[in-house]
Amino acid sequence: MNHPILTAIDERRTINLFDPARTLSEEQVAELAGFATRAPSSFNLQNYRFIAAHTPEARLRLRRIAWNQAKVTDAGVTFVVVGRMTDHEETLTRLRPTVDAGIMPERVAADWAAGAKSLYHEQPWRQRDEAVRSATFAAATMIFAAHAMGLGAGPMSGFDQDAVSAEFGLAPDEFPVMLLAIGHPAPGNWPQKARRPVADVLDVV
Ligand SMILES: Cc1cc2nc3c(=O)[nH]c(=O)nc-3n(C[C@H](O)[C@H](O)[C@H](O)COP(=O)(O)O)c2cc1C
Repeated sequence: MNHPILTAIDERRTINLFDPARTLSEEQVAELAGFATRAPSSFNLQNYRFIAAHTPEARLRLRRIAWNQAKVTDAGVTFVVVGRMTDHEETLTRLRPTVDAGIMPERVAADWAAGAKSLYHEQPWRQRDEAVRSATFAAATMIFAAHAMGLGAGPMSGFDQDAVSAEFGLAPDEFPVMLLAIGHPAPGNWPQKARRPVADVLDVV
């Protein structure tokens, strides 16, 4: 099968080495975030946000609390992908533009709000799991947007969660899900690594 999305899935590799001399513009940073928001999220709640460590100073602040990983400062930007504990009371607000655009009837939005309440109200584990899921979809979408823009991306969970929350002023209902370094790849990155055989990860029932 030949399709640009499938080609991108085949070609993409995690970028560990970035060219520190090649920066990204604020427009490129905003473009990356814009593509990321096109990812799906539960009830379209979009309960994530991005903090773009873009200036050299901001990237250095982040690197110090991210296992001193060089890619945090070498990449043109390193995003803190922030998850927000899922708040079902935001459902109607988030759906309003979709209702106003005539895509979703008002009564369906009300049904979704009731569904979100039954799923998340006083269920902190579900609130957190859902934030991680939605933020991760957004990050994955950003990775492929970066690929299409001729850039490379390196996701990271090697950071001090409490320190990142304090340093970048996260709210009490927010937490860093991952870091995502994006920039121009330098020579020397490995190709995509070998994967487990599909038969080992797939049960068709
Ligand atoms: C959630 C997550 C966390 C990761 N954390 C780090 C990290 O902190 N530091 C690092 O160098 N690589 C990190 N990686 C990169 C992985 O090692 C890499 O994606 C994996 O080896 C597959 O590489 P490939 O996509 O090039 O085949 C992380 C990847 C993911 C998905």
